[in-house]
Formats: sequence, structure tokens, C-alpha cells
Amino acid sequence: MAPSLSSTLLFAASAAAKIYYAGIDESGGEFGVYSSTATKGTGLPGRFNVDYAFLNASTVPIWVNQNKINTLRVAFLLERMCPLAYGLGRRFNETYFSEYNAAITAITNAGAYAILDPHNYMRYNDPSQQPTTGSIIGNTADPAAATTKQFEDFWNELAGRYRNNPRVIFEIMNEPHDMSTALLLQDDQAAINGIRASGAKQMILAPGNGYTGGHSWNQSTCATCQPSSDYLYKLKDPIDNTAIDIHEYLDVDFSGQHQNCTQPFPPNLSFLTSWLKKYQLKAFISEFGGDNNTMCDNYLTQAVQYMNDNPEYIGWTAWAAGPLWGTNAPCCNDGVGLGSLEPGSRASDGSPGLYYTVWLKVLEKLVPANLKRSGISSIHG
Ligand SMILES: *[C@@H]1O[C@H](CO)[C@@H](O)[C@H](O)[C@H]1NC(C)=O
Ligand SMILES: *[C@@H]1O[C@H](CO)[C@@H](O)[C@H](O)[C@H]1NC(C)=O
Ligand SMILES: *[C@@H]1O[C@H](CO)[C@@H](O)[C@H](O)[C@H]1NC(C)=O
Ligand SMILES: *[C@@H]1O[C@H](CO)[C@@H](O)[C@H](O)[C@H]1NC(C)=O
Ligand SMILES: *[C@@H]1O[C@H](CO)[C@@H](O)[C@H](O)[C@H]1NC(C)=O
Ligand SMILES: *[C@@H]1O[C@H](CO)[C@@H](O)[C@H](O)[C@H]1NC(C)=O
Repeated sequence: MAPSLSSTLLFAASAAAKIYYAGIDESGGEFGVYSSTATKGTGLPGRFNVDYAFLNASTVPIWVNQNKINTLRVAFLLERMCPLAYGLGRRFNETYFSEYNAAITAITNAGAYAILDPHNYMRYNDPSQQPTTGSIIGNTADPAAATTKQFEDFWNELAGRYRNNPRVIFEIMNEPHDMSTALLLQDDQAAINGIRASGAKQMILAPGNGYTGGHSWNQSTCATCQPSSDYLYKLKDPIDNTAIDIHEYLDVDFSGQHQNCTQPFPPNLSFLTSWLKKYQLKAFISEFGGDNNTMCDNYLTQAVQYMNDNPEYIGWTAWAAGPLWGTNAPCCNDGVGLGSLEPGSRASDGSPGLYYTVWLKVLEKLVPANLKRSGISSIHG
């Protein structure tokens, strides 16, 4: 962030809207740990391709060559990458890392960009009832919490391993929430520092508070949650290659759990967009989605159009594909088995799943033709 004068002038001169990245989220690497009785340790470490899985590599050519996307965001679980016995930091479970790395390199070898997504809500050590369990990273009042320095070390190690792969994007953390925004800023900054200290120069995505919701950017989303807008502009990236990470659903409570779309992008993102403009920042919407109904078709189309029309937005990925969803729906379903964005997906009634009824029907048509296809990931394309 804190763009240099020369880059500021360059962008003032060419303020045309430009989406450089478009694609989907791959969810599944974080699966298998939920416990209805909040039993800590449930599903850890878990069985690969049974309890958790990252990607069906056979779908990568479908996404990249047929569907013409250029970005896949791949979730993983911190407690699997850094087992509790090791603690959060530089020491990884090399088996889990190699499974994850196979998914990432399948994407980047196919010519697409891969977003590394620690799917942990800025928490570590107890994912049994994510998103609410686990100690908040950096919370010095919690003796069980990992420190901000451990988080910096973790990112330094992970980014170092990908330093020479220009097609990765580092997402600092999925959906922080219900924590001090000052602490969130500190954790985000530590991650940026760790990544840059490794020599990695790829794009970073930095989240705000309140599940990084765009509509609530200027709101206090809990008693100690100061608005993200009061803090996030203070982030410093020495090479100005960090964008704000935003999640924005279209349903009544912005949760992505309901079939009806009632919260359109233009009014709900107007504050965020003006804030981005004021601080000359870019944003990447790494989660959004809708059900297979006419209202959502219209709202999804309007959402992508809104990003096309506002040069603050540089990319998007839709929630979600993944090898383990089966007929379950990752988004916007009120409990109905609509299937997922995974190619070939079926709904629980045997009819076509969301891959057909939302991806092919609505979103694929909105993928820009001139996405970035080569070079290091960058907020400037
Ligand atoms: C992986 O994806 C391919 C292409 O869609 C599909 O034919 C195959 O059945 C999938 N494999 C699994 C294990 O889901
Ligand atoms: C590392 O991950 C593998 C694969 O999930 C698992 O079998 C193994 O038990 C894990 N090791 C630790 C220390 O968690
Ligand atoms: C969704 O909207 C439709 C049409 O307005 C309405 O009939 C239906 O009751 C709504 N469903 C829910 C769960 O709110
Ligand atoms: C979001 O959009 C809805 C529908 O136009 C509107 O009622 C609501 O006030 C908006 N919320 C915000 C935070 O702007
Ligand atoms: C957030 O911004 C919107 C749009 O400018 C404004 O209507 C709303 O009052 C603001 N909310 C707060 C809490 O400042
Ligand atoms: C949405 O998908 C479900 C499950 O496949 C299907 O029953 C329903 O008819 C679809 N709705 C529309 C409007 O296509």
C-alpha cells in the first residue's frame, strides 16, 4: 500500500476499470474438524481424500481451458499445516504441505493463479466449532493463543517456499471476526512483513474485521470491533503489492446461507468503494455467490458489473467448488442440497448442481476475456 508518487500519477492517468483475476474458490482442505459437541481435536490430522481434500486436479483444465478463468483460491487448515504439537510457526506437517503443494502446482502449472487461503478466522488451536472456536492469534490475554510473531514466522516460511512461483497470491487469513481491529491490523502487518522478508514479491490480500464484509467496512461489528475503515489503510507493504480482501454475500444477513438475494452490491459497497478511492487502494472479492433463482442471477450479474465499473476492484472468486461437497451446497441454500460449483456437480434431487445452474448459466458469461495470463501476481495486473 502507501503507493509511491509515480504509481499514483500513473493510475490517475489511466483510471479505466480492470478486472485482472476471475475464478472460483476450492473448499475442502479445511473439512472434517467440526464437532457438534465442540470436542477439541476432532478430525485432526484427518485422512487425505476422505476427511479433507484440496482439489480434483482433473478439473483444473476444465476451469482454465474451457471455463477460461485464471484464478483458483485453495483453502487449508492451520492446525493441519502446523500441528498443535508443533505450534503455529515455521515447522510444517510436510505430508499435509506436500498434498497442498500438489494442488497449488497443478493450478500454477496450468497457467492459472492460486490463492493460498489459511481458512482460520484469525484463530488457531481449536477448529472444532469454526468459525467461533480457537484462540485469537496475538491475543496476549489468552495464554493458549499463538503470538503475532508466530504468525509472522508462519507466513515467512510459507511465502519463502513459494518465492519463485510468480502465480501464487498470499491471502493473509480467511474472515477474521469478533476481535480487536487494532490487533487485526497488527496481525495483517506481521504477515506482510513475514512475506516480504522471505523475498516473495507476489500479491498479498489483507482482510478486515467482521468476516471482512464490504457492507460493514465502516461499522463496528462487535463491542471491541472498531470499523475496518479506521485501521486497514495504515497497512504498509514496502513494494505496494497488497490489496484489500473482501467477502460479500447477497442475502439478507450477508451470510451466504439464504436462497433469496436481497442485498445488492451498489448501495452496500458504496462506502467501501469511496474509502478505497480515498486511500488509493485496490480490493479483491474472494468470496461471493448466489442461489439458482432469477433474483440471484440478476444480483450476481449486477455484482460483477459493479466490479467492472469501479477501478478499485481487480478480481473475484466465487464460493465454492471442491471435491468433497457432493450434493451439499456451499452457498445460499437454506439447507437445500443444490450441489456445488464443482464441475459435474448434482443436486440432491439428481438435477444439475450449482456448477450448471449458477456457474455456467450466470457467472461464466461474466468472466472477462482479457484476464492476466502471465507474469507475477500484482495489484497492477
Ligand atoms: C475428478 O474430475 C473429473 C472431471 O470432472 C471427473 O471425471 C472425476 O470423476 C473426478 N474425480 C473424483 C474422484 O471426483
Ligand atoms: C501429518 O499429516 C498426515 C496426513 O494427513 C497425517 O497422516 C500425519 O499424522 C500428520 N502428522 C502430524 C504430526 O500431525
Ligand atoms: C424468497 O423470496 C420469494 C419471492 O419473493 C418468497 O416467496 C419466499 O418466501 C422467500 N423465501 C425465503 C426463505 O425468505
Ligand atoms: C444494502 O442494500 C439494501 C437494499 O438496497 C439497503 O436496504 C441497505 O441499507 C444497504 N446496506 C448498506 C450497509 O448500505
Ligand atoms: C457508512 O457509510 C454509509 C455510506 O456512506 C453511511 O450511510 C453510513 O451512515 C455509514 N455508517 C457508519 C456507521 O458510519
Ligand atoms: C434450483 O436447483 C434445484 C436443485 O437442482 C432445482 O430443484 C430447482 O428447480 C432449481 N431452480 C431453478 C429456478 O432453476
